[in-house]
Amino acid sequence: MGPMELVRPTLEHLPGFLDALDRGWDWTRDSGRTAQEEIARVLADPQRFLALMDDRAAEGGPVEIAPGVTVPRLPSITRWMWDGEFAGQIGLRWQVGTPELPPTCLGHIGYGVVPWKRRRGYATEALRQVLPLAAAEGLPYVEITCDADNEASQRVIEANGAEPPERFEKLPVHGGGEGLRFRIDLSRWRAAPTGATLEG
Ligand SMILES: CC(C)(COP(=O)(O)OP(=O)(O)OC[C@H]1O[C@@H](n2cnc3c(N)ncnc32)[C@H](O)[C@@H]1OP(=O)(O)O)[C@@H](O)C(=O)NCCC(=O)NCCS
Repeated sequence: MGPMELVRPTLEHLPGFLDALDRGWDWTRDSGRTAQEEIARVLADPQRFLALMDDRAAEGGPVEIAPGVTVPRLPSITRWMWDGEFAGQIGLRWQVGTPELPPTCLGHIGYGVVPWKRRRGYATEALRQVLPLAAAEGLPYVEITCDADNEASQRVIEANGAEPPERFEKLPVHGGGEGLRFRIDLSRWRAAPTGATLEG
């Protein structure tokens, strides 16, 4: 195993992702789909699944934010954390021409690390690597939300230069309860002479 890097998912990485789902990595819990249903969905058309990892045109169809509840998909980019093995996923989504998000979207960036690779700094590093990509899409800042009791995620966000969060009440469709909304300013990347790219 090497250092953790973000990779653009390809067929070569796919078995690691499917194996993580099979081992119980609970990535699809919002949709209500089981791991086996998710695996079957991916295997039905792996090329399309992988192509949609760069979905700037929001062609992936509606997003299930809760079982049976769908909202229009936003443009998005998904990368996998890779240390020689599959380690987790991080995704960026946004609305074209504005940093605002619809109320059903809990932040520009979402991430998860497989349980057997947590507490190695991977989520902190993944977020660090995604911020310049968000700046390259033209966002002046990103908003990231987490549950008020998700200490690990709060540490990840704070370690990446977030301002103090605001508290908000999550929508019933997101399960209700208290959330924290952080903002990370991206102006330091926008000032860079050579833009980061989203390839690779
Ligand atoms: C939140 C999550 C992504 C963190 O991933 P990770 O790779 O373990 O995080 P890191 O190793 O970068 O740890 C970041 C910080 O959180 C701390 N931390 C990690 N797990 C923790 C835990 N269970 N309780 C308290 N602190 C924790 C680490 O010590 C570290 O703090 P430090 O830098 O001050 O030492 C991971 O726990 C996860 O996938 N959880 C489920 C999905 C989720 O909650 N996603 C985020 C939704 S907003």
